[in-house]
Amino acid sequence: MAKLRLAVLISGRGSNLQALIDAAAAPDYPAEIALVLSNRPTAAGLGRAAAAGLPTEVIDHTRFATRADFDAALDAALRARAVELVCLAGFMRLLTPVFVAAWSDRMINIHPSLLPSFKGLHTHERAIAAGVRFTGCTVHYVRPEMDEGPIIVQAAVPIRADDDADTLATRVLAAEHHCYPMAVRWIAEGRVRIEGDRAVIDGPLSSPNSAINPRG
Ligand code: GRF
Repeated sequence: MAKLRLAVLISGRGSNLQALIDAAAAPDYPAEIALVLSNRPTAAGLGRAAAAGLPTEVIDHTRFATRADFDAALDAALRARAVELVCLAGFMRLLTPVFVAAWSDRMINIHPSLLPSFKGLHTHERAIAAGVRFTGCTVHYVRPEMDEGPIIVQAAVPIRADDDADTLATRVLAAEHHCYPMAVRWIAEGRVRIEGDRAVIDGPLSSPNSAINPRG
C-alpha cells in the first residue's frame, strides 16, 4: 500500500522530527517524509533531515510582508510535494485561519502538556508552578485557536518534587518521541475518525503502559 506522504514543519532542534525519521525508517511504517520545511534557515533540524537524505525547504518568514503571504508560500510548497499530512513539530509560527482551513483534518501538532491545560509556551515552568502532579504531551489535530483540536494521543508524565523545567522537559520529550510516531501511524492506517471535537481511534491500541493513551 502507498505510504502517507508527510511534511514535517520545524523551527529549531528537531528532536520530534528525528523520532519521525527513525520511525519511518522501518519498512513496515505506513508513512514517509516527503518534505522537511523550516521557517528558520538556522534550524538544527534541517541537518537531521539532510543526514537522512530527505528533501528540505526553508521558507523564511522574515522575507514575507504578511502572514497570509507566508502561509501561501507554505501551502504551495506542500502541494508541490503532494503532501497528505502536515506534522507541526516545534514550528513556532501562528498559522492563518485560511491556511488552517485549507489543511483541516490534515494537519497535526505536538504540544508539551496535557491539553487543554497549559496551552502556549513555557508549559513545564507553569505546570511546576501550579503544583500539578502530572503533566505530559498531546498530539492533536490543528484548529484555528492555538493548541486546540481533537486529541489523538496523550501521555502522562509524573512531576517529581525536585523537578525543574529542564528535568521535566527531558522526561516529557521522551514521551513526545513515543507519541508522535504512534499518532502518525494510526492516521496513516486510516484508524482515526474525527467526531465533532473528538478523535476516535479504531482497532487495537498497543500502548506500552497505562500512562500512554489508555483505553478503558
Ligand atoms: C517540543 O517540546 C514540542 O512539543 C513543542 O516544541 C518542542 C519542539 O522540540 N511543540 P523539537 O524541535 O522537536 O526537539
